[in-house]
Amino acid sequence: MKPIHVGIIMDGNGRWAQKRGLPRVEGHRRGALKAEKVVEWAAEFGIKYITLYAFSTENWKRPKEEVEYLFSLLVKLLRQKLRKILERGVRLRFTGAIDELPSSVADFCRECEEKTKHNNVIQAILALNYGGRREIIDAFNKAVKQGVTHFNEELFRDWLYLPDVPDPDLVIRTSGEMRISNFLLWQIAYSELYFTKVLWPDFTKQDFLKAIEDYEKRQRRFGGL
Ligand code: IPE
Ligand code: IPE
Ligand code: MG
Repeated sequence: MKPIHVGIIMDGNGRWAQKRGLPRVEGHRRGALKAEKVVEWAAEFGIKYITLYAFSTENWKRPKEEVEYLFSLLVKLLRQKLRKILERGVRLRFTGAIDELPSSVADFCRECEEKTKHNNVIQAILALNYGGRREIIDAFNKAVKQGVTHFNEELFRDWLYLPDVPDPDLVIRTSGEMRISNFLLWQIAYSELYFTKVLWPDFTKQDFLKAIEDYEKRQRRFGGL
């Protein structure tokens, strides 16, 4: 069966650039263009949700110039592509501590969500200023503030950033690193993991298809037999 929700840890932009003697930011620019392509391919494959890890809560440790470049790139590219996104029926959403981003970025994110909220071909979710531990802590604090004193798994889910989004069936990480780096910790409890050495800007439709075909061969047991 095809995955309904695919998460992607888009890694390797910096190494892609370094290999070519280019500045790291050029890798990010190419990586961002690839992200747009991947949403298009995912829609073609009939995937209903795709979550792209764009900026982690730990990525603030990077040089200020790189961080600033990443956010300006995001806004610039989304502005350029918004019409195309709308035409393609893509619903854009964000997950992460969005309200702690510079207000120009946060407002723009909310505007994109509002403008695309009736689209239903695919949901493209950008994880921005996202940390899995942070999401769990935020959920807990929000609930406690509302006077909640008892949780179970289903009740707890309602306090996460996007409770209506099903858990990812498949998580892909590029660049050869075999770790999760704080991505969707709660949601990936039973996700299938797929790692490839391909650097994110080099990721092709064929690579994507290979990951999906690999997923389709797996037997998911969820603890059963
Ligand atoms: C992933 O590429 C993009 C972000 C984390 C924003 P990296 O920038 O981590 O690229 P490498 O890992 O240094 O090659
Ligand atoms: C994970 O990549 C975060 C994103 C892809 C946005 P990193 O490059 O930040 O992860 P580590 O530091 O190698 O674990
Ligand atoms: Mg990296």
